Amino acid sequence: MKWIVRAAFGLEGLAAREMKRLGLKNVETMSVGGACFEGSMADAMRANLWIRTGDRVLLQMGRFRAETFDMLFEGVKALPWKEIFPHDAAFPVRAHCARSRLMSPSDCQKIVKKAVAQAMGGGWLPEDGSEYQIDVSIHSDVATVALDASGEALSRRGYRTWNGEAPLRESLAAALAMLARRGNEPLYDPCCGTGTILCEAAMIERDRAPGLFREFAMEKWTRIDPAIRQEAMDRYEAGRERPVDIAGSDIDGEAIELAKRHLHQARIGGVRLEARDLRDVRREGEGLFLCNPPYGERLGDAKSAAAVERALGEMARAHEGWRLCAFSGDPSFERNARMKAQKRRRLYNGRLECELMWF
Ligand SMILES: C[S@@+](CC[C@H](N)C(=O)[O-])C[C@H]1O[C@@H](n2cnc3c(N)ncnc32)[C@H](O)[C@@H]1O
Repeated sequence: MKWIVRAAFGLEGLAAREMKRLGLKNVETMSVGGACFEGSMADAMRANLWIRTGDRVLLQMGRFRAETFDMLFEGVKALPWKEIFPHDAAFPVRAHCARSRLMSPSDCQKIVKKAVAQAMGGGWLPEDGSEYQIDVSIHSDVATVALDASGEALSRRGYRTWNGEAPLRESLAAALAMLARRGNEPLYDPCCGTGTILCEAAMIERDRAPGLFREFAMEKWTRIDPAIRQEAMDRYEAGRERPVDIAGSDIDGEAIELAKRHLHQARIGGVRLEARDLRDVRREGEGLFLCNPPYGERLGDAKSAAAVERALGEMARAHEGWRLCAFSGDPSFERNARMKAQKRRRLYNGRLECELMWF
């Protein structure tokens, strides 16, 4: 079976790298939207459990040209729905259209729904069984029809139930930790907010499957070998007491309380947190400061963001053995911090163009 792992723009390559590390076969980065692999239901379950930087795992049912509603209808109807769906399957449809002749998601949804119902034999369908979310994406007149094997987005690990003012998506925070941190070097986030970077870094270091404590849509489709979850649980148990040198602080005491709750909900111990202005941060030895400071567009105004950036520059210069990696959407970051990045990578925080900068 062919599976698609959707990933945010800029994270496709990282998701593909994770898939290869998992031993998945024929991994290819797609031109838009993610990467794909070939494998069994068990492989897809492992992808759901272990992929940190992707958004969803989908089973590709078919891919064909769809310039008209008729082409879409016939293409969808020809797919082997009866082989996959039980008679009582509930099959909601969501559609996404870009740069195509068919540009109305709601019309495409209706056509697809009708085509699948006909393929299932027509007549009344109870739709009161397990859910098979159909995902149709029409891009440059090519329709990709797939089933969502994840359910909720993979970034919803289940630990974040309270949001601060501008939290990072978990998949993006994991990507930042994967890109910036060298091995298990000491890590400190001086603007940690609700603690997403710290949670993700600790899970990576302790070899913990990010999806271990949540469920996936595909588990309702069929019986998945319990050994797959068990192996992830064994690795979690083996790593849970492993000491980590990960800590953080934030000027906002309420954000720190949220971060503590998130760590607790994520069942992550050993990460130190305190309320502190980054101007008062002092660290010994060597390590990595990794953070996502406020930037004018989303939090506070440009002036206060500039003051935080200036303070970050001073903090970095006062810590000779420590590197700074900052993730920001502020084009004036380097000027304000009075530092020049040695390396940079463009990434998106939602729709906002940002950069991860290495100093
Ligand atoms: C964009 S948010 C970080 C979000 C965080 N990555 C998360 O996932 O929740 C920026 C954070 O910087 C903090 N901050 C602003 N000025 C600060 C200062 N002078 N010292 C420490 N933290 C500061 C804010 O309180 C806010 O939580």
